[in-house]
Amino acid sequence: MRAVLCSEFGPLEGLQVVELDDPKLRSGHVRLKVLASGVNYVDGLLAQGRYQIKPPLPFVPGMEVVGEVVEVATDVSASLVGSRVLANLGFGGYATQAVAHADRLIEIPDAMTTGQAASFLQSYLTGWFAFVNRLGVDPARPAANADKWLLVLGAGGGVGLAAVDIGVALGYKVIAAASSAEKRELALARGALHALDVSSGDNEVKERAKELSGGGIDVLYDPVGGSLGEVCLRALGEDGNYLVIGFVGGIPKLPANQVLLRNRRVTGVDWGAWAMRNPEANNAMLRDILSFIEGGRLSPVEPTAYPLSKAAVALADLEARRVAGKVVLLPD
Ligand SMILES: NC(=O)c1ccc[n+]([C@@H]2O[C@H](COP(=O)([O-])OP(=O)(O)OC[C@H]3O[C@@H](n4cnc5c(N)ncnc54)[C@H](OP(=O)(O)O)[C@@H]3O)[C@@H](O)[C@H]2O)c1
Repeated sequence: MRAVLCSEFGPLEGLQVVELDDPKLRSGHVRLKVLASGVNYVDGLLAQGRYQIKPPLPFVPGMEVVGEVVEVATDVSASLVGSRVLANLGFGGYATQAVAHADRLIEIPDAMTTGQAASFLQSYLTGWFAFVNRLGVDPARPAANADKWLLVLGAGGGVGLAAVDIGVALGYKVIAAASSAEKRELALARGALHALDVSSGDNEVKERAKELSGGGIDVLYDPVGGSLGEVCLRALGEDGNYLVIGFVGGIPKLPANQVLLRNRRVTGVDWGAWAMRNPEANNAMLRDILSFIEGGRLSPVEPTAYPLSKAAVALADLEARRVAGKVVLLPD
């Protein structure tokens, strides 16, 4: 099979497309012909050795793929052959083949394209976990949030755009902040009421969010951090909650006095580690998300596609903020 190999931690150009032996089909597993590999921001951090987890070298990045089942182990039902499924792999997704545990394959609703299915998993599970598990929002009662304002930073990126979609589905009035017209359009298309241009400056984003929400927002969803996150903490109103999601712009230094003022809260969100410890609860969460997608209440973005051989370019474009929405790799 062909795969993108990371032989040492370093610049993304070091990723090589190589021929590797086909992965062994173990008991309980199926072989997938990969149709699309989801690309996540964290894949680039892992390949550069800039993430808190350092996989043993060499490794093939890629956590989620959509594939066609082409072979099954002798203890797995042959009826699976030919089906289009989603697999959450851990590593090994940037390849033309993958081997996945049959019990952990995820059925894809007909309503989803292969690209959507290969690229929604991490962003939507993170968002759902943040709102439902960490904030305690009841997805069955969106009316309870009808008066609440949500500000999403990085709203045209993968995680931010999913938060816009989920926030709207959960009843919030959403303000999206993003750097390009294309990213802001994507957020507005998912139901954001307002889209702010972050290039107008951190302070302007904070002031506009306060103004639009009539004095202060209720929830800040922050996958960006840095000075933008730090400044926007001040846009939170009474009992407002800052959801700490990610640090693409640097780790913010949140001033404790600003948390004390107006009885604000800061909530950490570490979906990945939680999902490893709670696989059953994570599966239940995924079923809820899929039912919202099937019912038309969530609509993951159609991703930008790059050929597998251009994985390093795709990751560099993502890191340089050139991509709106999500990215997938297609075998070439
Ligand atoms: N907490 C969790 O459980 C969890 C789970 C999954 C991912 N994450 C984290 O969430 C973060 C976002 O991931 P993602 O997949 O949404 O990434 P992404 O698709 O690349 O989007 C990130 C967005 O952040 C903005 N940004 C601002 N400053 C940036 C900078 N210096 N470099 C790059 N982007 C910058 C960009 O939007 P503008 O151009 O509009 O500013 C970009 O669209 C990552 O840190 C990831 O590790 C956390």
